[in-house]
Amino acid sequence: MNSLFILNNINFLAQVIAALEITKVRVPSSYSLSRDEGDTKPLILGCDYDIDDEKSKGFVLKWKHNDLQFYQWIPSRNPVVFSAFKGHIDESYSESSDRLHKHSVLKFINPMANYTGNYTCQVATYEEVKSSTAHLQIIVPETDFSLGFQRETNGSTVVFCNVGEIYPLPDVSLRIDDQKVSDAVAFEQVQDYTGYYNVSVQYILPDPNQNLQLQCDVTIPATDYSLHTSMPYQGKWPHSDEKNETNLLKTIAKLGFLHL
Ligand SMILES: *[C@@H]1O[C@H](CO)[C@@H](O)[C@H](O)[C@H]1NC(C)=O
Ligand SMILES: *[C@@H]1O[C@H](CO)[C@@H](O)[C@H](O)[C@H]1NC(C)=O
Ligand SMILES: *[C@@H]1O[C@H](CO)[C@@H](O)[C@H](O)[C@H]1NC(C)=O
Ligand SMILES: *[C@@H]1O[C@H](CO)[C@@H](O)[C@H](O)[C@H]1NC(C)=O
Ligand SMILES: *[C@@H]1O[C@H](CO)[C@@H](O)[C@H](O)[C@H]1NC(C)=O
Repeated sequence: MNSLFILNNINFLAQVIAALEITKVRVPSSYSLSRDEGDTKPLILGCDYDIDDEKSKGFVLKWKHNDLQFYQWIPSRNPVVFSAFKGHIDESYSESSDRLHKHSVLKFINPMANYTGNYTCQVATYEEVKSSTAHLQIIVPETDFSLGFQRETNGSTVVFCNVGEIYPLPDVSLRIDDQKVSDAVAFEQVQDYTGYYNVSVQYILPDPNQNLQLQCDVTIPATDYSLHTSMPYQGKWPHSDEKNETNLLKTIAKLGFLHL
């Protein structure tokens, strides 16, 4: 094998790489749906690429959602949207007037929770095919987020944190005096039609008489979404009632003993 052959090969590769390269697939890691109409920020997915105009014969740009193609654009034609996304993409949206970039960007109309998934931008010419993928997580914000406690009649105090109607399933954790509670019990429910989650995390205080700082943290894995709230907890102070009760019991016991 002579070195000239290798050199020629490297040259050939370098030219190929320069002709078409996806530099960035602009997919946010998460997008929060708004519960109030009109307060929505747009969901835009972009595909940035460098392309050599002279080697752009046969140019086709495709977008796929979990390997299912839903968008195709050929320069000088209008983009075509199909399958589940038909009617859900603003086909007139454009961020560039360049012949080979005009319709590479997607602007969604009224995104839905099931838009979550892997998005692949694929750009092809007669000579090359390049693609790049990124994951989008759609978040449905909670309708309820509450931290509190309940004193049971048996003397136990249960601390709870509830998160209502959120998607996807969040991590909910309790902190007491800034220490994460590792043995709290979590209850999860899935709503029938929407698939949204209700999560309740509960914990019985080992010593309900102590003053404490309660905190609840909610996160959605692999996204920036987080919620925090905290409140002080006042132990049963002063414990005069209980002491009196105890004293009374002791007195009864003593009396009983005396009667025997
Ligand atoms: C998305 O891509 C990740 C990483 O490649 C993979 O683990 C996951 O199964 C994909 N999700 C779907 C819905 O295809
Ligand atoms: C999302 O769900 C709606 C119905 O609720 C369905 O019409 C649509 O095809 C789904 N979209 C995707 C991308 O799965
Ligand atoms: C008190 O009642 C609560 C709720 O019914 C229960 O979870 C807890 O275990 C009880 N505590 C004791 C000490 O029995
Ligand atoms: C879920 O939480 C919401 C809001 O707190 C509440 O209205 C709804 O009744 C809960 N659903 C279930 C099944 O508990
Ligand atoms: C507790 O008992 C003492 C003496 O029996 C009484 O003076 C006091 O008022 C009681 N405290 C309460 C809170 O009932």
